Amino acid sequence: MDLYPLVRPLVMMMTPEFGHTLAIKALKMGLIPPQPKVNDPVLKTSLFGIDFPNPVGLAAGFDKNADAADAMHGQGFGYVEVGTVTPKAQPGNPKPRLFRLVEDRAVINRMGFNNAGMEAMAERLAARKGKGVVGVNLGKNKDTENAVDDYVLCARRLAQYADYLAINVSSPNTPGLRSLQSKEPLIEIIGGVRNVLKQLEEDGQRRPPLMLKIAPDLEPEDLRDIADVIMGEGLDVADGETGVDALIVTNTTWSREGLINWQKNEQGGMSGKPLFEASTRVLSDMYKLTNGKIPLVGVGGIETGKDAYLKIRAGASLVQLYSAMVYEGPALGARVANELAACLKTDGFTSVADAVGADHKDSE
Ligand SMILES: Cc1cc2nc3c(=O)[nH]c(=O)nc-3n(C[C@H](O)[C@H](O)[C@H](O)COP(=O)(O)O)c2cc1C
Repeated sequence: MDLYPLVRPLVMMMTPEFGHTLAIKALKMGLIPPQPKVNDPVLKTSLFGIDFPNPVGLAAGFDKNADAADAMHGQGFGYVEVGTVTPKAQPGNPKPRLFRLVEDRAVINRMGFNNAGMEAMAERLAARKGKGVVGVNLGKNKDTENAVDDYVLCARRLAQYADYLAINVSSPNTPGLRSLQSKEPLIEIIGGVRNVLKQLEEDGQRRPPLMLKIAPDLEPEDLRDIADVIMGEGLDVADGETGVDALIVTNTTWSREGLINWQKNEQGGMSGKPLFEASTRVLSDMYKLTNGKIPLVGVGGIETGKDAYLKIRAGASLVQLYSAMVYEGPALGARVANELAACLKTDGFTSVADAVGADHKDSE
């Protein structure tokens, strides 16, 4: 049963950040009942050696410190991305830094990578009891000059606990972070992390797949550069190997187009429903630029199974959501997954993989 409709009016009276802190505490303490298991076979999907029970994931930023990963699997999410984590703990930006734009079904945040640091995350991931898929999203401390160092440190420390790692160079709230999406820094960061993972593999550790997460506010030539690098340009990749194993598209946007809520001019990244179209356009562009050769993770404005389905048709092999939960509660994981199963079956698909990029195939 989904109890959120009952508590929603109360949650909406709290400041958004207090509501979030309380939700994490309640999840951690087991106070939010799990949803019935989502186990429709049409949703099962396998990518780079990982079996996902369903392709609907929790996006980074909700569970920054890996407090509630197991509980969120229980809410129906097929996988959970924790973080963004940085080497050292840091407080993030001054409050208030999180805003609900109710009429727009949107959120603006300028959290600034508040997190307890990689040692705390390692401890929590090591103590996890659940077996659900967990990705770790990596960032840099605000005061670090050489960004590569931070990504390398976090990758080395956390690889052993992560089903996958995601390099985040796309949050708008760490000064200069988004400039790391241009060719030279990107090659350096991906190259640095790849070297660490290779080294760990040589030492007998499992090598987790590597993802990159990008912003929606990129020019066509930026997207081309990113496509080149993730396909392997400038990197030491073997024949047939790519620079990263998947691309997460997208983070929050600078855009305020179409918003009506009075808080629309708050600084930070905007997410939720109004981000859906722009992020899906970038997803579709990246599918074309990479010839469908690199799995894509579609994120931005997903509220329903139909939204998830549209991302998959546009080229996503997996999807993620966060902001819609602010309005619908954590059981949205199970709801979106079940609705997605219905969409796939209605259109005659027997698996998620069959539907990936369907829109591009129709137009061939
Ligand atoms: C409050 C908040 C905090 C976020 N923090 C992070 C973060 O730490 N790292 C990250 O990669 N993305 C972060 N995001 C972005 C989300 O992971 C996601 O990419 C974006 O919100 C678009 O999806 P949505 O419209 O479903 O929320 C955050 C989003 C929100 C709303």
